[in-house]
Amino acid sequence: MADIKQTKPEKDYSVYFQRTFVAPNLKEARRRRRQAVRHLNDFSIPDDIKGIGAGKKYLIRTYGCQMNEHDSEVMAGILEEIGYTSTDVEEEADIILLNTCAIRENAENKVFGELGNLKQLKRENPDLILGVCGCMAQEEAVVNRILQKYQHVDLIFGTHNIHRLPQLLKEAMFSKEMVMEVWSKEGDVIENLPKARKGNVRAWVNIMYGCDKFCTYCIVPYTRGKERSRHPHEIIQEVRELARKGYKEITLLGQNVNAYGKDLNDGSYRLSHLMDEIRKIDIPRVRFTTSHPWDFTDDLIEVLAKGGNLVEHIHLPVQSGNNAILKIMGRNYTRESYLELFYKLKKAIPHAAITTDIIVGFPNETEEQFQDTLSLVEECQFDGAYTFIYSPRPGTPAARMEDNVSMEVKRDRLQRLNELVNELAYKSNARLEGEIVEVLVEGASKKNEDVLMGHTRTNKVVHFRGPKSLIGQLVNVRVTKAKTWTLDGEIVAEQEAANQ
Ligand code: 5AD
Ligand code: SF4
Repeated sequence: MADIKQTKPEKDYSVYFQRTFVAPNLKEARRRRRQAVRHLNDFSIPDDIKGIGAGKKYLIRTYGCQMNEHDSEVMAGILEEIGYTSTDVEEEADIILLNTCAIRENAENKVFGELGNLKQLKRENPDLILGVCGCMAQEEAVVNRILQKYQHVDLIFGTHNIHRLPQLLKEAMFSKEMVMEVWSKEGDVIENLPKARKGNVRAWVNIMYGCDKFCTYCIVPYTRGKERSRHPHEIIQEVRELARKGYKEITLLGQNVNAYGKDLNDGSYRLSHLMDEIRKIDIPRVRFTTSHPWDFTDDLIEVLAKGGNLVEHIHLPVQSGNNAILKIMGRNYTRESYLELFYKLKKAIPHAAITTDIIVGFPNETEEQFQDTLSLVEECQFDGAYTFIYSPRPGTPAARMEDNVSMEVKRDRLQRLNELVNELAYKSNARLEGEIVEVLVEGASKKNEDVLMGHTRTNKVVHFRGPKSLIGQLVNVRVTKAKTWTLDGEIVAEQEAANQ
């Protein structure tokens, strides 16, 4: 191990940096939209790599969003194809991959902390391959920090290089130097990657990759590249296959699913068309995330209102309730137009649960501007909200803005917002007390093995007692008690549910 450590920093990575990390800017972003996307079907494991994982174990630790969760399933699929089996025990692993998130500084700090913790393990087991991938790997500053301070890392690869894992892994096994491959190019769409999905009840299905919205605070358009949609027939085939295998719920995934299809052919086949086709597939529940209010069209609302397997839950990030802040964020809508869309959705889908994301403490946000956020939350009575303190992301336009709001004030705003969000979440749950809801049973509750857990169509978590044989099934549950984040309930007989 000692000599491995010494050889690593000697490699000259400077040429590599010049080639790899081209910080995109808005002008380039507009240009990149016109660049052609390649849809490929050519993933295969080279002969000399087949079986190199036989008898070995992998562990993937995932940080961040559902997109990362699903990328980890792809990496697991690739590793299993070359012979690895999975483990949850670090000491047993021959390869540990950290699939990282760059959305906020504390997400990155968690990963650096974990890298520090793994140093001892690497010392004890020099053959262990330690890899860093995901969004942090796309950031030059992060890679530099790893090169300088975390030389026990063997492998770094970016979000556009997942399909190259077999080759990179082999290189890492036989090289004494850190292996690094991070493409700054915007990425292809590769269709035939294997997937080792977690569980057999709910599944993720990517419909598009990347984001071209360039909200001024957000790192995603830089780490995930330009918007690129999968062809509808590929998505539909995947959903059909999942239905055939007995999955009960799918979630269509994209950073900004409402932009689906803009980059395909003449751009006329959009999310509404895709959902209208998926609606006809025999799978009980279809979700989608995440929506940007910008591209939420009337025909999409019309399709969602048809119901059936399209569930009544819409995650619609608002970020702020103040027009000046929304403008500096580059969100391209106003408080008024958000509310207009919100009410349209409520009218078209009366029982829809609407959840949101909110950032407090954006640079120079005043108390009055924050009050606008509180009043919007109050008006919308959201069923739930993910709330965040603004975190400057190096390279983004907002990170260059001066900021006169202290961390103390930001923390105070977050706390006040959370109090309101929790109160509303409880209120929306309390309205369900005594009602019968359909629950997809996912497994045992984390806290109590004897209690089952599942989600309603509106994405609320329900706990209730019942036999484990119900896992994977849709059952009717009467809500007996509402809590802030979850509901308690009891199973009702089929007849009773039918009479309701
Ligand atoms: N700081 C804080 N929150 C952020 N988000 C995105 N970028 C940042 C940032 N720099 C939040 C947004 C987004 C969610 C996924 O993360 O609310 O919707
Ligand atoms: Fe980030 Fe979402 Fe804005 Fe894209 S739409 S830049 S992913 S916040």
